[in-house]
Amino acid sequence: MALILEPWQFKGLELKNRIMMSPMCQYSVSDEDGAPNDWHFVHYISRAVGGVGLVMMEMTDVVPDGRITVNDLGIWSDHQIPAFKRIIDQVHLYGAKIGIQLAHAGRKAESESLRPEAPSAIRFSPRYRVPHELTGDEVKRLVDAFASGARRAIAAGVDTLELHGAHGYLIQQFMSPLSNQRDDEWGNFTRFPVEVIRAVRSEIPSSMPLIMRVSAVEYDAKGYTFEQLLAMVEAFHQAGVDIFDVSSGGNAPVVPDRIYPGYHVPYGAAIKKAVGVPVIAVGILEEPALAESVLQQGQADIIALARGLLRDPYWANTAAAALGGTVQVPVQYHRAFKKSFLGQS
Ligand SMILES: Cc1cc2nc3c(=O)[nH]c(=O)nc-3n(C[C@H](O)[C@H](O)[C@H](O)COP(=O)(O)O)c2cc1C
Repeated sequence: MALILEPWQFKGLELKNRIMMSPMCQYSVSDEDGAPNDWHFVHYISRAVGGVGLVMMEMTDVVPDGRITVNDLGIWSDHQIPAFKRIIDQVHLYGAKIGIQLAHAGRKAESESLRPEAPSAIRFSPRYRVPHELTGDEVKRLVDAFASGARRAIAAGVDTLELHGAHGYLIQQFMSPLSNQRDDEWGNFTRFPVEVIRAVRSEIPSSMPLIMRVSAVEYDAKGYTFEQLLAMVEAFHQAGVDIFDVSSGGNAPVVPDRIYPGYHVPYGAAIKKAVGVPVIAVGILEEPALAESVLQQGQADIIALARGLLRDPYWANTAAAALGGTVQVPVQYHRAFKKSFLGQS
């Protein structure tokens, strides 16, 4: 069988295959209360029915001002727990595992009613507002907010958590000279992420892997280099991150010169080799043969798909058809497939 359809285990997380639904903001919370609704229920359950091994719920913000828009998911209050639990329980029924991506948008808050807040009062671009420069006490309260978000996610039944340390949101803002020019202790680029990692780790079982998404490069000569990122990743691993989900960019208003299938893969492979941790590859990997070859070459351990799964919620079956494997659909749909494709004789 193809590697991508093989089970994968790390600590207490057992996946039926190596396909992950990448986190994708839906901007679909209806009454600004942060809790997921029926849209989110259908959206996530469809991909679990479709056969992915791990669903990573979208960027979910740990305080109200940590949202990009007032329609983002949030996990700042206990009242939000039951709506997450409803989705998580149902995803489990279809044999998939599920995590929540914990985040804070920082200076990238867009809705007028939200206060953009960041390490330094430097705006992302002229299209954005100048953020409030967080005081030391406010930074400490945000570390606690990440821990409280993790506690609520555990209460809702997650199998893992992902910290959003990429795409120019608050954690990456602390990591980068583009956005962090503080002269207090929080001016140390690893300090805030490390404190968040330790605080989150203290809320979750030791058997639960903690994932962190990072931007490998910033595409701006004044930002951090990949070598500097590697050193930060090593510190994050020491602090308690088990698996890195490797993306790029988002902290400067520039895009890479070339975007092509698998363009993040070499960065993830380099992190895997240097730090000795499992990595998740993401970025135009919906061609099954390409996804499979990334795993076969040992460049990554899990393949995450975003847009490919929006187009085809049954991508796991598409991959099985292309690579020669069995499908993993609920029994109600078995009549649509040949017995051999279901692994039956
Ligand atoms: C609609 C949409 C929303 C996204 N929201 C998030 C998000 O909440 N968190 C995140 O880390 N990345 C987010 N991303 C980025 C994806 O997770 C993924 O890294 C990116 O789309 C590249 O993967 P792909 O080529 O398979 O689409 C989003 C992408 C899309 C298309």
